Amino acid sequence: MKVQTNVSLKPYNTFGIDATAKYFVEVGSIDQLREILQDPDYKDLERLILGGGSNLLLTKDFEGIVIKISIKGIETLQEDTEQIWLKVGAGEVWHELVIYCVNHNYAGVENLSLIPGTVGAAPMQNIGAYGIEIKEVFESLEALEIKTGQIRVFTKEECQFGYRESIFKHEAKGQYIIVNVTFKLSKTPVFHVEYGAIQETLKSMAVEDLSIKAISDAVISIRQSKLPNPAEIGNAGSFFKNPEIPKAQFDALKAQYPAMPSYPVNEYTVKVPAGWLIEQAGWKGQRFGQIGVHAKQALVLVNFGGGKGNEIKELSQKIQESIREKFGIQLSAEVNFV
Ligand code: EPU
Repeated sequence: MKVQTNVSLKPYNTFGIDATAKYFVEVGSIDQLREILQDPDYKDLERLILGGGSNLLLTKDFEGIVIKISIKGIETLQEDTEQIWLKVGAGEVWHELVIYCVNHNYAGVENLSLIPGTVGAAPMQNIGAYGIEIKEVFESLEALEIKTGQIRVFTKEECQFGYRESIFKHEAKGQYIIVNVTFKLSKTPVFHVEYGAIQETLKSMAVEDLSIKAISDAVISIRQSKLPNPAEIGNAGSFFKNPEIPKAQFDALKAQYPAMPSYPVNEYTVKVPAGWLIEQAGWKGQRFGQIGVHAKQALVLVNFGGGKGNEIKELSQKIQESIREKFGIQLSAEVNFV
């Protein structure tokens, strides 16, 4: 384990922002993580814990220490005829875990194919797509408490999962580092194809026997058609969360905009797609120098190369302002600003 100085973070964030970290270290084990957290040279510095850097907007150089979590391993903890429990290192690439599960016929994560990022980052915001959230296959996780160096287990209830939410974005923020996650997967699949685009894609793929592989392939195909590949165009997926608004406000807006899509949350609250709002406000496909709004999905802000984090932050604020003015809705960012 070697601490490097003045390291470009460009390869470590999917937006491809070229900010510099004063100190940078990659840890491959819990012991290495403890060691760096206790090192007198670094322990009082500001810290940035990095997984895949896929939900991150770097707005300036980082003056502290960046700790990249590269703890690997997929271990079978327990299994019976119906289920299997896999304990997975936080540094494993999420999509590689999905492919591992699909290849072994362990069902539950196929709808979450091709989501960028690492396993350790996934529970932080309860990643979700195409009708499934990680909480549905989540059993528990282990996290290192920064203050004490002790490992603490968090059960599903303790993680307080919500839509793109967990305790790690609130009460526990900045206090723990997730080191592994245990998933409970099913050996007899329950297919989730409620999401319209999955059904259409399966049809166009002429799938006869539904399988988790077919669903994974369909999701990959949908994502590739709508979402820019970070290896080609910098982005962090959805930049904003889909806002939840009071039913009365929704009814009034729906009268004005009959085409407005929506999903009921409960009796009093409705979720509306931020991508639709942003498109209606005229932002979709707009380019401003080296940054812009993706032409196929308005919820995704992009860096065409050489864009600055601050420029993307300013664009996001302008979008928020225009959605407030046009619809009276406050968008909140899904991406973390550093
Ligand atoms: N829409 C538009 N214009 C756009 C984008 C979307 O009108 O430019 C409309 C679509 O026509 C559709 C609705 O908005 O009626 C929803 O669009 P889509 O199915 O693409 O999903 P989303 O709500 O925009 C969410 C997640 C994605 C996830 C997809 C699929 C959030 C913030 N985003 O997007 O997650 O892949 O559903 O489940 O909840 C991510 O978090 O990074 C992410 C990509």
